[in-house]
Amino acid sequence: MKLQGKSALVTGAGSGIGKAIALLFAAEGAKLLLAGPTQERERAVARQIEDRGGLASFIVMDASVEAQVQAAIAAAVEAYGRLDIVVNNGGVAGLVPWDRAIAVDLSGVYYGCLHALQVMRQQSGGVIINMASTAGLVGTKLPEITGGLGYGYTAAKHGIIGLTRQFALDGAPHGIRVNCLCPGWVDTPLIEVVKRPLHDWLVKSTPLGRLAQPEEIARAALFLASDDSSYMTGAPLTVDGGWTAR
Ligand SMILES: NC(=O)c1ccc[n+]([C@@H]2O[C@H](COP(=O)([O-])OP(=O)(O)OC[C@H]3O[C@@H](n4cnc5c(N)ncnc54)[C@H](O)[C@@H]3O)[C@@H](O)[C@H]2O)c1
Repeated sequence: MKLQGKSALVTGAGSGIGKAIALLFAAEGAKLLLAGPTQERERAVARQIEDRGGLASFIVMDASVEAQVQAAIAAAVEAYGRLDIVVNNGGVAGLVPWDRAIAVDLSGVYYGCLHALQVMRQQSGGVIINMASTAGLVGTKLPEITGGLGYGYTAAKHGIIGLTRQFALDGAPHGIRVNCLCPGWVDTPLIEVVKRPLHDWLVKSTPLGRLAQPEEIARAALFLASDDSSYMTGAPLTVDGGWTAR
């Protein structure tokens, strides 16, 4: 098991990619704190982990509220004695207005990195994984949806890659690695509004000819969380079926 005995906080763990990461990390031996804006879904995932013999609890947290992010990190330390891995994953859909996208997707990741770094500095080590997107690498133009993805989403995801590099420099002297993932189109509730009218176009436009499953992104997160990526920091890892290779 790659994460035996490690403790991990995963935000947005109630569905989609965050849920897949939580389940995989638990299967690899990690103790989980699942954070998100709703109790019900995170509780259900925690129960699923415990049913499989793992250890998990949950906390209500809005990533756009710094005090709540700080409290979630403190709760993980309180529950497990230390915090080895933070996955800043929770986010809102690409078509939300500017202010909301920046508040949740960008400020939320900033708060997560800031407070995780403080805890991890005291422990002299840790891993932070931020959820960016191919929308952090390129602009995205969609047929039939005016303007493609929202400007706020694109700016936030580009910003996450910058934050990842900056925090990586701060963390490196303390043995803390900070990386981010850039998934392409992943079949989760987040893209429902785009998928409904554009499924065939998305598939045709992706070189591998299909959407990703959340578990495929979770496996990349496991790579970043484990010692398999021990020499990686400050890096965006693209998992996009070739979307940005076009
Ligand atoms: N699905 C894709 O195609 C895709 C592609 C690239 C990046 N991403 C990113 O992956 C991450 C997870 O998205 P997903 O596709 O699994 O979608 P999802 O809708 O299944 O999951 C999003 C999660 O974020 C949580 N969330 C929403 N608002 C929040 C807030 N204010 N504070 C904390 N958590 C909040 C939700 O409760 C949910 O659990 C997001 O950051 C998203 O931008 C998704």
